[in-house]
Amino acid sequence: MITAALPYANGPLHLGHLAGVYISADIYARFLRSNNEDVAFICGSDEHGAAITLRAKKEGKTPKEIVDVYHQSNKEVFKQLGVSFDYYDRTSEDHHHKTAQELFLELENKGAFIKKESEQYFDKAFNQFLADRYITGTCPKCGAEDAYGDQCEKCGSALSPTELINPISTLSGKTPELKKTTHWYMPLDRHEKWLSEWMQKGNYKGEQVHHVKDWKNQVVGQCMSWINAGLQPRAITRDLDWGVEVPMKDAEGKVLYVWFDAPIGYISATKKWATENEKNWEDYWKNNDTNLVHFLAKDNIVFHTIIFPVILAELGDYILPKNVPANEFLNLEGQKLSTSRNWAVWGKDYLNDFPGQEDVLRYVLCAISPENKDSDFSWKDFQARNNNELGAIFGNFVNRTLVLTQKYYDGVVPEKNELLDVDKEAMEVIAQTPKLVAHAIRSFRFRDALSEAMKLARAGNKYLADSEPWKLVKTDPERVKTIMNIAMQITANLAVVFEPFMPHKSADLAAMINLDLPKWNEAGDSDLIKKGHQINKPQILFKKIEDAQIDEQITKLKEASKKPSKFPPMKDEITFDEFMKMDIRVGTITAAEKVEKADKLLKLTVDTGIDTRTVVSGIAEHYNAEDIVGQKVSVLLNLAPRKIRGVESQGMILMAETEEGELAFVSPTKDLEAGNTIR
Ligand code: 2FM
Ligand code: ZN
Repeated sequence: MITAALPYANGPLHLGHLAGVYISADIYARFLRSNNEDVAFICGSDEHGAAITLRAKKEGKTPKEIVDVYHQSNKEVFKQLGVSFDYYDRTSEDHHHKTAQELFLELENKGAFIKKESEQYFDKAFNQFLADRYITGTCPKCGAEDAYGDQCEKCGSALSPTELINPISTLSGKTPELKKTTHWYMPLDRHEKWLSEWMQKGNYKGEQVHHVKDWKNQVVGQCMSWINAGLQPRAITRDLDWGVEVPMKDAEGKVLYVWFDAPIGYISATKKWATENEKNWEDYWKNNDTNLVHFLAKDNIVFHTIIFPVILAELGDYILPKNVPANEFLNLEGQKLSTSRNWAVWGKDYLNDFPGQEDVLRYVLCAISPENKDSDFSWKDFQARNNNELGAIFGNFVNRTLVLTQKYYDGVVPEKNELLDVDKEAMEVIAQTPKLVAHAIRSFRFRDALSEAMKLARAGNKYLADSEPWKLVKTDPERVKTIMNIAMQITANLAVVFEPFMPHKSADLAAMINLDLPKWNEAGDSDLIKKGHQINKPQILFKKIEDAQIDEQITKLKEASKKPSKFPPMKDEITFDEFMKMDIRVGTITAAEKVEKADKLLKLTVDTGIDTRTVVSGIAEHYNAEDIVGQKVSVLLNLAPRKIRGVESQGMILMAETEEGELAFVSPTKDLEAGNTIR
């Protein structure tokens, strides 16, 4: 049972996501499948949470509109890159809501939660409780000024909103106030003891575990530092209008915390996949012979090593993860990747700019995988790895072998004759490679695994260079047959051992040698491709990447990151006629008063030059009624009248709005008369 962290469907995938989670997970899944193991590889879009409602609000869209777009486009990127999920689900689906609610109720009935009242930040101007993500402030741990209420992205500390220094609501830009609300909590403190044993050394359900030894340091380290600091009850519900509704009578306006429902998404997706494929989902989640492995990046560690295991353990009959091989972060050209600064290479852009070169990206991201520490992607290094490793070693070896086989034998694999030491050495590399690669993959050392696979290509190159068949072809044709047979064996073995890393190129290579791709247990054999077998015409496996292409990428990255991306993107195009339908004029405010029981509204009397009318405007927090009499403004006159708080508003005052929601009148810079048109 392999899971890959469900990416939030609130933005496109970039290389950081791919290197952090999905490439490693896919290598692992493909490798196990090639070993005929029974694999369920599950992922999907994480479509809840405040990050999504926040983005929706910024763009003036509904959360559903946001997730629909990114779910589709992210799914497509994975598909094109060959990430071989058995099921790619989405958490906004009814079936997921149902499973999440059922599991919540099961836990509630077991007494796994406590309910308590607490004070939480509330934005008075917007009349709503603020999810952790809606509050920013100074990080109490490192002093970064833009920490979120749940986490500081600078130092990685998990935070709660009340820990922030100078908290600010991202909705109104004002300091929020504390207000009482009731929530369900998971009392993590109850689980401290067994978690600590499970992590360090102990016996879990009759099985000896020692994760300090078999998990990455960083994973055990983060987990133990939480446990050692003392686990606290953690709220698993939120006051929010987007998410899985809390299935309780007294829970109106409350949804499950996204980090409660998202990992359950792994289970609901497995159920869905199982139903569609005549499998039994419980085999994957409730059978002690099943290995559960979670792939994710370091910011997700405690959710998968503490919170989700507690859910699983409380449910009782579920297995716990065997390993959580979390990766660190990928930097880009020496700087931290940042979506807000647009310092990122987007998966979609890569696929557009490098068609047919999906596997080059897979290769490079695996070669530099941030397995044990942060690592760096640079375009120059990408180019060098393509040209000097994939092209000059792998591609060159394969091409020489296939071209010579065509040339000497019309593409028919010759037989081996007497073996010399150099042949035996090459055959030994063939025999060892699948074992070494397999061992590294099973130990979650994907960089090493790739480098072991690459050694076979290097060995092939050296073998040809040392034995120089082109020099012997006239004088010792029998010897050349042996050399070319072994070179063909190396080629066929390369197709197998590279399949987890570069599935497209492996398939291309298998097609060139006219072989159904063998399974892993067949690799290691120096008779994998039989004498007398007819191969097809060779093609170039790896195209050279030119300097110009790389320079273009570097320029593109730099240009894109210059553009401010904090503002909402442009709205859909309209025609000139549509624009001309709007009648916008200069108006003068002649009277203003507050609207009763509405903190934000002012009732304005506006002289429009052609009449005097009433306009209700949401500006009370930005302007005092008495200060704006006489103010020249822009008014949209032909907007259909609307009743706002019982007052009929006949038009709209145009306002400029900052990111923080600050409003300002849009007024003519010369003293124009009311009634003058604005176009
Ligand atoms: O960090 C993230 O992108 C989260 N959406 C990961 C969720 S993993 C899981 F639990 F589903
Ligand atoms: Zn910090």
